[in-house]
Amino acid sequence: MSKTLTIALSKGRILGETLPLLEKANIVPVEDISKSRKLIFDTNHEHIKLVILRATDVPTYVDHGVADFGVAGKDVLMEASTKNLYELLDLKIAKCRLMTAGVVGQPLPNRRLKVASKFIKTAKAYFAEQGIQADVIKLYGAMELAPIMGLADLIVDIVDTGNTLKANGLEARELIAPISTRLVVNKAAYKTKYSEIEPILEMIRRAVEDNE
Ligand code: ADP
Ligand code: PRP
Ligand code: MG
Repeated sequence: MSKTLTIALSKGRILGETLPLLEKANIVPVEDISKSRKLIFDTNHEHIKLVILRATDVPTYVDHGVADFGVAGKDVLMEASTKNLYELLDLKIAKCRLMTAGVVGQPLPNRRLKVASKFIKTAKAYFAEQGIQADVIKLYGAMELAPIMGLADLIVDIVDTGNTLKANGLEARELIAPISTRLVVNKAAYKTKYSEIEPILEMIRRAVEDNE
């Protein structure tokens, strides 16, 4: 009997790219996730289950070992306080950049910077590393509004096409980190369920190579 493996997936934009990748790795949910209100799904493998979570909750489920695998953006993983997971694989999907951005042409003030972000831990670490004094203000979305409204001098946010910044009169400044989606595993599960985990990892690894 194979031990049950639970894979925690991030809903939202990552999910749409994760499901085709899992399908290439021969892991297919038995019902259409997009058409269901359910949060837990059986797959074509009796011992593999998928759970659909808010992206920011994925590291928590894997850290606590209630999910064995997790699929989450590097941005979310950098921000999470987790000790019990390994980052196994770069899935090379939902690629974007974590950047600072400010109002087009507006120089930075000669005082302590005000920075708005939902990535406060990453933002604090970045400015500290740069030796720049900054107060970081936590936001939950629409970060682009903060510099326009005078809440902050800079934001730290995801940039892909740059269209959102442009539409709001902002420009990207410094790159903090290139971002893509990662496969993480609970450290204890990696040991105790190694014989179940290893073949799945290999299938997903091949699916990622196939995507390139
Ligand atoms: P949320 O509602 O938490 O913002 P999303 O579904 O928008 O969730 O984003 C989930 C993940 O997708 C992010 O953690 C990031 O890794 C990636 N991502 C976010 N925005 C973009 C984007 N514009 N282009 C590509 N990837 C993105
Ligand atoms: C993300 C991110 C930026 C935008 C960047 O927002 O927070 O606002 O995408 O992409 P672009 O450079 O291609 O314009 P998202 O669409 O996920 O909205 P939300 O997270 O605020 O709901
Ligand atoms: Mg988003």
